[in-house]
Amino acid sequence: MAARKLFLLAGDGIGMEIMAEAGKLITCMNDELDLGFECEEGLVGGAAYDACGKAISEGDMRQALAADAVLFGAVGGPKWADVPYDVRPEAGLLRLRKELELFANLRPAICYPALASASSLKPELVDGLDILIVRELTGGVYFGEPKEITDLGHGNKRAVDTQVYETGEIERIAAVAFELARGRNRHVTSMEKHNVMKSGVLWREVVSAIHAVQYKDVALAHMLADAGAMQLVRAPRQFDVIVTDNLFGDLLSDVAAMLTGSLGMLPSASLGVVDSKTGSRRAMYEPVHGSAPDIAGKGLANPIAMIASLAMCLRISFGMNDEAGWLERAISAVLDDGLRTADIYSNGMQKVSTGEMGDALVTKFKQIAA
Ligand code: IPM
Ligand code: MG
Repeated sequence: MAARKLFLLAGDGIGMEIMAEAGKLITCMNDELDLGFECEEGLVGGAAYDACGKAISEGDMRQALAADAVLFGAVGGPKWADVPYDVRPEAGLLRLRKELELFANLRPAICYPALASASSLKPELVDGLDILIVRELTGGVYFGEPKEITDLGHGNKRAVDTQVYETGEIERIAAVAFELARGRNRHVTSMEKHNVMKSGVLWREVVSAIHAVQYKDVALAHMLADAGAMQLVRAPRQFDVIVTDNLFGDLLSDVAAMLTGSLGMLPSASLGVVDSKTGSRRAMYEPVHGSAPDIAGKGLANPIAMIASLAMCLRISFGMNDEAGWLERAISAVLDDGLRTADIYSNGMQKVSTGEMGDALVTKFKQIAA
């Protein structure tokens, strides 16, 4: 059996702690199920800057490109607030997305029944919520050129970011959304702002065109992104799959994540182009939450989003549907047992540390897999 190569980039803040818990699960899977994962570790974000003055080193970039999948923790923190823009922690993440060509970012927002009361919305609005946001990740205003600040003199400056999309970029992300909808409730909502943006006009046109030709079996709705944000907090369960551009996807996925009351629990997958020869694709898996420097190093972080990201990795990169399902069942089971890290704690539950949560997940996983 060929080794399965994972590259682990824990990053900054709570990244180290949650990656350590994912590591326990990987070790357990190797020991109990002989899955043959081989892990290498690298540095990204502030940790990489401290070590080499860049947000990710060339060597680590090469390893990320060579791995079957990358697991990513989180980057950033106040310590690096003043480092030069090009080497700020986030630049490492953006470089990975761009150079691995991870154009499709899947962000599920699932409300675990045990946590419905933790949402800022009424439980009856979010109970059973299961939305998938498909965010375009390598284009749009994040990467468009020009991107600059020009000095106009007399204390006046001019800042430009450029929103740019081409047909092919929209087509491929729309196709991902439609394909995924086929395995769900067959409903895609595309969000843009064609009322003010040319890129929105093209987005809508291209999504409609590919739908008409290839995906008539999936229902398609268009929504202006501002109205979409409003509908997400008004009646979130109307959505199944939402497909949108890089910047709107950034905003809308934070809103959707918070609706579930479980920001510390949500995973994501960033997927590249499928290689026509091998059928494989580059991929990176990361929790939706950030590096939370305020609680770093205290054993307070919730490792579930990281471990749920590992489950997505098993399913998508390695086709291990059973093992992924077992891991997800282990997550539900520890919640049903009342275990809670501080972020999701409520009265009457059992408060546990990052490490205790990871250990409990290992124990459950072993039981379920046996
Ligand atoms: C995210 C984050 C990143 C983004 C930051 C850290 C660059 O907010 O993954 O949603 O804006 O894409
Ligand atoms: Mg974001």
